[in-house]
Formats: sequence, C-alpha cells, structure tokens
Amino acid sequence: MKFFIDTADLAEIKSLASSGLLDGVTTNPSLIAKSGRDFKEVIKEICSIVPGPVSAEVAGTEYEQIMKEAKVLRKIADNVCIKVPLTPDGLRACRHLSDDGTMVNVTLCFSAAQALLAAKSNASFISPFVGRVDDIGWDGMQLIADIVEMYQNYSFKTEVLVASVRGPLHVIEAAKMGAHVATLPPAVLRSLFNHPLTDKGLAQFLKDWQGTGQTIV
Ligand code: G3P
Repeated sequence: MKFFIDTADLAEIKSLASSGLLDGVTTNPSLIAKSGRDFKEVIKEICSIVPGPVSAEVAGTEYEQIMKEAKVLRKIADNVCIKVPLTPDGLRACRHLSDDGTMVNVTLCFSAAQALLAAKSNASFISPFVGRVDDIGWDGMQLIADIVEMYQNYSFKTEVLVASVRGPLHVIEAAKMGAHVATLPPAVLRSLFNHPLTDKGLAQFLKDWQGTGQTIV
C-alpha cells in the first residue's frame, strides 16, 4: 500500500519525507489556503521534495477552464498529478488529460457509481472521502470495499486512493481491503507508530542497558 500525505505544509512534508515512508502528496484548495502560500510555488517545492505523484487541484469547473489550468499546472514538474472534481466536465477533462499521458486524480467521490465513471474515464486515481461519508452517518469503509471489489472485476488502471482519512483504523481497514493508496494527514501518519507497549518496553530496555554500564560505540 502506498502512503501519500494530505497537506500543503512544507515543514511537515520535509520532515515526513525523510522517514522514507512517503510515496506522494495530495493537496486541495482548503489545504493551500491553510498554508498561506502561493499555490504554484508550493506545488513546485513539494514536487522537488517528494518524487512521487503530487496532486494539484484545478479551480475551474468548466471543461475549457479545467484544461487551461491543467496545462499550466502540469508544466510545474513531471510528477504533478492534476486533481479534478467528479463532475461531467471534470471527467471529460480527465479522459483527455489521461489520454495525453498526464496523471489525474478524480476527487470528491462519494459513491461506487461515481468511482465507476472515474475508472471509465481512465483516471490514475479515484479519491473516495471516507471521513466525510462517516460524518453523515454512512459507512465510509463500505464505500472503499465496494470500489475495490468492483475494480477487481475489470482491468481498470485506476488506483483507489482513500482520502479524508481520520485515524489509524481507516488506514488498517483500507489496507485489508487492498486499496492501493491512503492519503494521510501528518498526525494520522505519525499515530501509526504509536503503541504503549513499545514505549514501555523501550524504557525498560534502556534502564537495563544503563545498568550494565556498557556502551556500543
Ligand atoms: O484532500 C482530500 C481529503 O483528504 C480531505 O479530507 O479531512 O477535509 O475531509 P477532509
């Protein structure tokens, strides 16, 4: 399973990239606004830190405007992945960009039917938002299970990118289902390390080691 990080915070990206765990980055207009930085500059900088796909979302909603913006964004770096909304115009743009060799992430997916449309539009990634589905009292992970099962029946190239992840259980469930990618807020990625028995065991080992009076180097 690939791990992307869902942020436009360069300090977080730099710090987590050094862990060797990052396979890509996703951003959205809300995350760019939160960074307070210039969109194209931030994307350029992220692309130079992480060699994997870096999602940059268009702001246009009509086909012509989406294509114009995509043309500008994809010139920023070879690893830019154009993020388009799951709308008729977004999927039309997805088809053309994909056929032209550009990576495309189709975002704001909330149903298996929408995911099927994205796969038929040759998307590189489909982004179902599990947390936001949970928020309205539906089952976000059931949506992932349905999409993974559906895609496995065909030779779609589209990868399932689990988005709107809220905690480690979303990640574990997604991995068990065989989702290709999870995009994680930095805090969720860090939380995957945590276990109280690891902390307790390490403290005991260090105490016992100090008691030996030895050093390794
Ligand atoms: O970037 C798309 C998605 O991950 C947003 O998540 O937490 O705003 O629902 P969230």
